[in-house]
Amino acid sequence: MGTRVALFFLFACLSMACARRHASAAVGFNYADALEKSILFFEGQRSGKLPPGQRLSWRGDSGMSDGASNHVDLVGGYYDAGDNVKFGLPMAFTTTMLSWSILEFGDLMQAQLEDAIAAVRWSTDYLIKAATAAPDTLFVQVADPNVDHRCWERPEDMDTPRSVYKVTSQSPGSDVAAETAAALAAASIVFRAVDPAYSKKLIQTAMMVFDFADRHRGSYSDSLSSVVCPFYCSYSGYHDELLWGASWLQMASENTSYMSYINSNGHTLGAEEDDFSFSWDDKRVGTKVLLSRGFLQNRVEALQVYKIHADNYICSLIPGTPGFQAQYTPGGLLYRGSESNLQYVTSTAFILLTYAKYLDSNGGSALCGGGATTITAGDLVSLAKKQVDYILGKNPANMSYMVGFGERYPQQVHHRGSSLPSVRAHPSPVPCNEGFRYLYSSSPNPNLLVGAVVGGPDNRDGFADYRNNYQQTEPATYINAPLVGALAYFAAAGKP
Ligand SMILES: *[C@@H]1O[C@H](CO)[C@@H](O)[C@H](O)[C@H]1NC(C)=O
Ligand SMILES: *[C@@H]1O[C@H](CO)[C@@H](O)[C@H](O)[C@H]1NC(C)=O
Repeated sequence: MGTRVALFFLFACLSMACARRHASAAVGFNYADALEKSILFFEGQRSGKLPPGQRLSWRGDSGMSDGASNHVDLVGGYYDAGDNVKFGLPMAFTTTMLSWSILEFGDLMQAQLEDAIAAVRWSTDYLIKAATAAPDTLFVQVADPNVDHRCWERPEDMDTPRSVYKVTSQSPGSDVAAETAAALAAASIVFRAVDPAYSKKLIQTAMMVFDFADRHRGSYSDSLSSVVCPFYCSYSGYHDELLWGASWLQMASENTSYMSYINSNGHTLGAEEDDFSFSWDDKRVGTKVLLSRGFLQNRVEALQVYKIHADNYICSLIPGTPGFQAQYTPGGLLYRGSESNLQYVTSTAFILLTYAKYLDSNGGSALCGGGATTITAGDLVSLAKKQVDYILGKNPANMSYMVGFGERYPQQVHHRGSSLPSVRAHPSPVPCNEGFRYLYSSSPNPNLLVGAVVGGPDNRDGFADYRNNYQQTEPATYINAPLVGALAYFAAAGKP
């Protein structure tokens, strides 16, 4: 054991119980409340026919004929962020991360577990339809964002074209298809005990979609460029999703063919590539951590390479270690970019806690600089807590970046349904152009999108709360999804 990094080493902590005590040492937030809200947010993003139990009651049914132009049923699913488009790639990634949150920390969610599972199902019901409507076809998007963005309309009023986009054997999209397979596979584990028949359908669909993704290789950004770029362009290509999809199928199925696939294709699909962000686009970090579990818990030697590269990501985050290369704001927030930065913070917080759990299960640690520095599970928990606490209000602006949580939080969230009057208060339609006065208004949003975490502050901890500042004030499903798991962890850690 070599040098240790003072910043994160107030305590040495080897067991998870110790890590929990450790995290609870400076409790300041009601994490259980934040957890509940982080899940409630997904109700605000729902498309389709809302159920009787809908709690964000300012929303109504929307997109009720989605798919009809192609004679398929694509009703349901989630709007990704503040607009009314249903984008397949981020929706699937959101679903994978919500499922992963439940798989790692669902046993700590208590009363929230049922709602978290319902949030997964809202998406998987849609993804199953999108994947099974036609052979060798995956429907990947409803609405052209260029057209959608010309209006500022409530989802309930939408009168813009609901164009339907798909990937096929001729126009492949291994990125979106393999992410969809990952989502369905991860969700199949979530439903294994609670609804075995549904779980079986999920895994069967996942296997079919993965096979399609792998047989017809290509990026959906090539064939669907005008409607997916720059919005959810697959900048990282599709190799990362193929390996991620295979990894989730390996976890979810009894079928050994996925382990063989990982062993024979891992090297060409990025097993040894380091990357320093984990997002709806780039799955390399997530795959490294997920596959490390097999090495750490089951001693599968072939998976050691993933642990080595998972360590590299961890080392990149810790100041003073060899390999450190992350950027932090003066207030201590991980900073990757000016647009929707908190998505990287929440995904990293989740990865830190999950990797801490895997490391802890065999007393392992992350090794930096070939073992010159070791990082323990407790250190990862401390860093994750710092990031989550920043989001909830422990930051230079004394501001919570979760809507409806704490004393001060964003008032002008870039979100159509939240910013326009509710259909309940104002039943007559607000047409396309008339909506823009709500976008540019300086009044607070009339409808609280409870639990939404917005894009967040800039690299100097600055935050400008105005609605057209979408880089900072827009929420997104993939910002919240990994935070659900992290909040479950800290909610439980705060208990005696
Ligand atoms: C395992 O998966 C492969 C690839 O999808 C498939 O061809 C094979 O039939 C599966 N085996 C079982 C037992 O399900
Ligand atoms: C934030 O709170 C701290 C402690 O209460 C206070 O010292 C500081 O001035 C506050 N900052 C802002 C920007 O309100």
